[in-house]
Amino acid sequence: MTQTRHDEMSPGAATIVDVHTPSRAYEVHVGAGLLDDAGTLVRRAAGGEVAAVVSDSNVGPLYAQRVRASLEAAGYRTAYLEFDAGEQNKRFFTLVPLLEGLAEAELSRSDVVVALGGGVTGDMAGLAAALYLRGIQVAQIPTSLLAMVDSSVGGKTAVDLEAGKNLAGAFFQPSVVIADVGCLRTLSPELLADSCGEVIKHGVLADPELFDALERRPLTSMDVEDPAFAQVVARNVAIKRDVVNADEREQGVRQTLNLGHTLGHAIEAASDYALGHGSSVAAGLCCVTRATEHLGWTEPGTAARIERVCAAHGLPTNTDLAHDTILRYATHDKKRHGQTVNLVVPSAIGSVCVRKVGLDELATIVRLGCGAR
Ligand code: GLY
Repeated sequence: MTQTRHDEMSPGAATIVDVHTPSRAYEVHVGAGLLDDAGTLVRRAAGGEVAAVVSDSNVGPLYAQRVRASLEAAGYRTAYLEFDAGEQNKRFFTLVPLLEGLAEAELSRSDVVVALGGGVTGDMAGLAAALYLRGIQVAQIPTSLLAMVDSSVGGKTAVDLEAGKNLAGAFFQPSVVIADVGCLRTLSPELLADSCGEVIKHGVLADPELFDALERRPLTSMDVEDPAFAQVVARNVAIKRDVVNADEREQGVRQTLNLGHTLGHAIEAASDYALGHGSSVAAGLCCVTRATEHLGWTEPGTAARIERVCAAHGLPTNTDLAHDTILRYATHDKKRHGQTVNLVVPSAIGSVCVRKVGLDELATIVRLGCGAR
């Protein structure tokens, strides 16, 4: 299932994961030092004359020069667009100047946007590329672990609205993804640990071997430039690839990527986004698994294993929020369908199913899984 291949052309010995969605096929390159190969990789995948690098005020000063130099060495004229970092800026008021900037730099339909940064940058630059001239190519260069293992792959792009996160967007696949694990060196230990919530989720979702490996050796204890670290990233990309290849537009199996998210999003929103996304997903995953194990839907012992792995990565395994607060946020989730919610239930480590649960059943799950029992 989760196949990857070695890049014979790359001296840095990158791993390539091939993605084949109905709308586009592309490569995800994972390895250390790949920022310097960005020009070659973007040219091979996207062509064009102009590359507009989009980044934020945290990541741009660290890496934009290096990426632009690589793009220019590959024959591109480059432009650079930067916005103020932070989820609070993932809004239309930031998107509009990006679109104007692409026009000012005179990008044509054959040119390319290069999204350099974490999830916010990837989402916004991806959406700008989807809208500009009704769609030009985008290369994703994720610099956070969360963006490498999740948001840069699969084509979800969005901005937030007053009513909630990611409520206006498009499915728009990149032409190439370049994940340079060396960028993780500048990530704070807290942010690296936070991202591990999605990594653990992938293990529970589809890969008992990955989960075992995280049990034996937490990712947070590894050097990011250890080749084994890049292998874990590539494996996560391959898990996500298998899901989005099968269901690009979240009509079916892609919903399983929301494992831990029904309660996780509620915990994240109720904290006013003070708790990181991966930490919230970890807490949501532990809460839902405790409840579904109690209900007999999950193999006994699963919750304890997930709790141990989350704790070993410094992630929360519970929440002290009031049950009615969690329920209120959980039932406002955009993935609610009338009076039911599609809840992703871990059946065991490595397998999940989607169950339609009524709001009263969701209340039971919150009562059984969240806080002290
Ligand atoms: N992050 C979930 C998805 O891409 O579908």
